[in-house]
Amino acid sequence: MTTHEERRPDASPASPESRASDALYTRRAAIYDYELMPVAPLRREAIAALALAPGDVVLDIGAGTGLSLPGLSEAVGPAGHIVAVEPCESMMHQARERVGVQALATPIDFLTATAADAPIAAALGRRRADAALFFFTHDALQDAAGLDRVLRALKPGARVVAAGLAWAPPWLPLSNLFVLGAAMHSVVRMDGLGCPWRELAHRMKEAEVERRWLASAYLLRGRR
Ligand SMILES: C[S@@+](CC[C@H](N)C(=O)[O-])C[C@H]1O[C@@H](n2cnc3c(N)ncnc32)[C@H](O)[C@@H]1O
Repeated sequence: MTTHEERRPDASPASPESRASDALYTRRAAIYDYELMPVAPLRREAIAALALAPGDVVLDIGAGTGLSLPGLSEAVGPAGHIVAVEPCESMMHQARERVGVQALATPIDFLTATAADAPIAAALGRRRADAALFFFTHDALQDAAGLDRVLRALKPGARVVAAGLAWAPPWLPLSNLFVLGAAMHSVVRMDGLGCPWRELAHRMKEAEVERRWLASAYLLRGRR
């Protein structure tokens, strides 16, 4: 049986970055799924890289409209558990609707908060998560407090996968033109695009990064 719980975060004052991100994704929510269609193959690769097994607990950080939820649910099954963390109400609304329409069998907690504010440990109860996904969540990856909270919620050795935009080497100007346009449309913190995974990788036992899309995107696989 699927259960969906809404846990409200403690109200903490939103930073200027959080407010800007909320405004950006409130504007984009209605057309977001169409815009992200070309990213579907990389999403499938990222979910496969999590190496999930039936019964696993997985965190989807910056879950957006829930485009990764069907793949995650298929991998962990009805005995698994997904915690979706997403601060933008409009994006989260669509994620909840997707789960209902597609009748996903996995219990899912929807935490409408940034990673730094989300009550992830409370959603997990006595358990810790087996894996975490950061799919195109550049702003969340620049937030050290959020990363600390996510990493604390993971078991030692848990799998972590991140993917997103990154500056290509300077001899690939067309790739960088693409990154500039896409980032201006989708991220608040333009800093960190040279090595978006830096803060995350520092917190992990192992991490390996491969480049995709003529070096304009990356895929990180690691372990806590
Ligand atoms: C480009 S969307 C990616 C959504 C989803 N992961 C996907 O694959 O389609 C980035 C999402 O990160 C969310 N976000 C921004 N700052 C965040 C933070 N500090 N913690 C968690 N999520 C955040 C935004 O609200 C937005 O929905």
